[in-house]
Amino acid sequence: MKGIILAGGSGTRLHPLTHAVSKQLLPVYDKPMIYYPLSVLMLANIREVLIISTPKDLPNFKHLLGDGSDIGMKLSYAEQAEPKGLAEAFVIGEDFIENDDVCLILGDNIFYGAGLSGILADAKQKVESSDEAVIFGYHVENPRRYGVAEINDKEDVLSIEEKPEYPKGNHAVVGLYFYPNSVIDIAKKVEPSHRGELEITSVNAAYLEQKKLKLQALNRGFAWLDTGTHEALTEATEFIKALEKRTGLKISCLEEIALSKKWISKAELKSQIDGKKGDYYGYLQRLMD
Ligand code: G1P
Repeated sequence: MKGIILAGGSGTRLHPLTHAVSKQLLPVYDKPMIYYPLSVLMLANIREVLIISTPKDLPNFKHLLGDGSDIGMKLSYAEQAEPKGLAEAFVIGEDFIENDDVCLILGDNIFYGAGLSGILADAKQKVESSDEAVIFGYHVENPRRYGVAEINDKEDVLSIEEKPEYPKGNHAVVGLYFYPNSVIDIAKKVEPSHRGELEITSVNAAYLEQKKLKLQALNRGFAWLDTGTHEALTEATEFIKALEKRTGLKISCLEEIALSKKWISKAELKSQIDGKKGDYYGYLQRLMD
């Protein structure tokens, strides 16, 4: 299975913060935002990842992450010329996906919770062994800002709507989606919505119509954090800071994950961080000692 991180958009709600810098490169406490979704793909054992961003911002992502070899990954890059919607990721990424299944994660979504690796492994296995899509639901106070799934008590999806005025439930569809290869053809057929975007919700609705959409609820022990407003961004920073300070362990530390999965050796990491200063590298140094 391959992975795509969509890190486009103009981030207008966060201006002037995002006037010169891509939203997905803004700091969330001690690391750039994109580290969080990238770590989720790593935990899902997805090592080939396409990062999609705007022509203006793409060079900065390349500068930050390179070809991915430092963390035992294979990263490639593609442009989304205009913010035409999430579903366009599969059209842009067609040659990258080839005949594989694919996991899409949004570059501004943060996930944290015990058992995440197991949940990801299950979703991946389900998609690889059937031709069904797997999405995740999360109970939120204000679902109007999101895709919303109406579910019954067996977690069957009854309907799915994008930013409904009158949501049929409180389960937001989070920005993490597992699809079989058929998603490329489905995405090509999606028509722009009233806001002019190729909606991921239209892709999910197509799988629902074919009775091939599975939703897994992320329970209340889980954190799914949004970074779309100044307040949400600050809250995300405070959340990560509180947990990291309390435990002395870093969340979404890419090098730590790569090391624990044996995708890189201690010697390789040592030579990478040699001479680098600051708390993040101090942490990596302590890990190896
Ligand atoms: C997008 C999707 C929406 C999803 C959300 C998750 O919304 O369209 O269905 O719930 O991401 O972050 P956007 O952030 O583009 O408004």
